[in-house]
Order: sequence, then structure tokens, then C-alpha cells
Amino acid sequence: MALSPTEITTLTKHAIEAKSKAYCPYSNFRVGAALLTTSGDIISGANVENASYPVGTCAERVAFGTAIVAGHRDFKALAVATDTKPPAASPCGMCRQFIREFTSADFPIYLVDGDGGYRVTTRGELLPDSFGPENLLPPS
Ligand code: THU
Repeated sequence: MALSPTEITTLTKHAIEAKSKAYCPYSNFRVGAALLTTSGDIISGANVENASYPVGTCAERVAFGTAIVAGHRDFKALAVATDTKPPAASPCGMCRQFIREFTSADFPIYLVDGDGGYRVTTRGELLPDSFGPENLLPPS
């Protein structure tokens, strides 16, 4: 279901705020994510880098992981904020697959640029013809 203008404003604001929590001393590329649950909660995340570079984690996966361990399973929308000039940056491939696990193809993703503007896409647009839980063989 589409978000109301108020929900969009609130969610994108949370993503921008979450960006300020990024730990990114190596890339200096801040990313904030905010996840709206169907119950109306907003769970935030930011990228957390590591001196062993590949160990760092993206904002989107921090947000989804935090939401999942808090008991949330149903999500309405995601917003991702960076400091880039328009067009806003889009989630990396690993995050697209991570998001795939918990969302339907029409799940809306708001991509917020460094000027505070946004564009909207869907999980299905970002990861078409994807692999998900239903593709796994049932346990024997
Ligand atoms: N990053 C994210 O947090 N999300 C993405 O979808 C793309 C990249 C982070 C990882 C790293 O900390 C920094 O941005 C530069 O790649």
C-alpha cells in the first residue's frame, strides 16, 4: 500500500537522521536507513565500517537486522539516505538480496539524496527475477 505524504516525510527524515550515526572513517560515505513496519514503528540503521574493510556493514542490513531481532517481520517501506547529489544512490547488490528475504516485489524504497530530495523505486525493480526462500527445496 502506498505511503501517505506524512509517512514519506517522517520516514525520509529518520533516514537522514540515521545517516548522522554512520561509523565510516574509511570511506567517509555516510548512509542512513529507516524501515517502516506495518505496525507503524520506524527502525533505523547506519553503515558501520571496520578496519578490516570487508567486515563493514551497510545501513540497510543494520536496519533490517535490528528490526528482525526486535521481532518485526512485516514491513511497509524503506528509506535510504546518502550525501550524494541527485540522483540519489541506490542500495548495493548484497543489500538488495538481504532486503529480498523480507519484502515483496512491490515494496517501496525511497532513495534520499544529499539535498533532501528523493526518488522512489521498488524491491522488484532493484532485484528482478530474484532468489528467495520459496526457491529452496523443502527439507527431506
Ligand atoms: N553502503 C551502505 O551502507 N549501503 C549501500 O547500499 C551501499 C554502500 C556503505 C558501505 C560503506 O560503509 C560505504 O557505504 C561505502 O561503500
